[in-house]
Amino acid sequence: MEQEPIVALDFPTWEISRKFLENFETPLFVKVGMELYLQNGPLILEELKKMNHRIFLDLKLHDIPNTVGQAMKGLAQFEIDLINVHAAGGVKMMEQAMEGLIQGTQAGKERPKLISVTQLTSTSEEQMKKEQLILVPLVDSVLHYAEITKEAGLDGVVCSPHEAAAIQDACGREFLKVTPGIRLKGDAVQDQNRIASPSQARLLGASAIVVGRSITGAADPAEAYRRVKTEWEGQS
Ligand code: C5P
Repeated sequence: MEQEPIVALDFPTWEISRKFLENFETPLFVKVGMELYLQNGPLILEELKKMNHRIFLDLKLHDIPNTVGQAMKGLAQFEIDLINVHAAGGVKMMEQAMEGLIQGTQAGKERPKLISVTQLTSTSEEQMKKEQLILVPLVDSVLHYAEITKEAGLDGVVCSPHEAAAIQDACGREFLKVTPGIRLKGDAVQDQNRIASPSQARLLGASAIVVGRSITGAADPAEAYRRVKTEWEGQS
């Protein structure tokens, strides 16, 4: 997986997304999440592909194994690059998700990478204990989810940069650690809890970073993207 930052297109319409993308001269690796996808449908993926953007389809699927498997089979036809499920759905659900993706990928095309969400980066340990009744330390829950994700044959996980090193120790260097919760110095934390800067994320062992509001909410998004990319690549 290439190391360029993944930009979260957390916008309500294709029109706003298209306008935002005009800020950039070259194609990006973009993340389409539920806000954009659920209001605009799969057509948006075709538009992004025509513009040569790479796509992380962040739908965080979580349902019974057969439903998730069939959904993945259908989504594979859009030639996305990366997609995810919730590890809380279990090993069987993740295995069927992978099977669906393999079945749905056209001959000669590359299978989208499949990762799982462990604990959302907006979840604090206190909240996890109180609301999910998971009574171990948060890092143990994240590690457990990473391990069952590996057991199911997936390519990696979404996690906070602060958990990347422990996951690497447990699941190996090749196992992807895709990390949201990224903020440039001086940016507001907003609803995230376990945040890091792009350079911290690199030093902590992230394989890729997902950046939303630090870029989409900046007065000059292209400049913010350059700052993120430079920091991420270790040039500042
Ligand atoms: O604006 P911000 O940089 O906080 O956006 C982070 C993006 O990453 C959002 O689109 C959010 O849905 C996504 N994400 C996350 N935590 C996860 C998985 C995905 O923040 N565990």
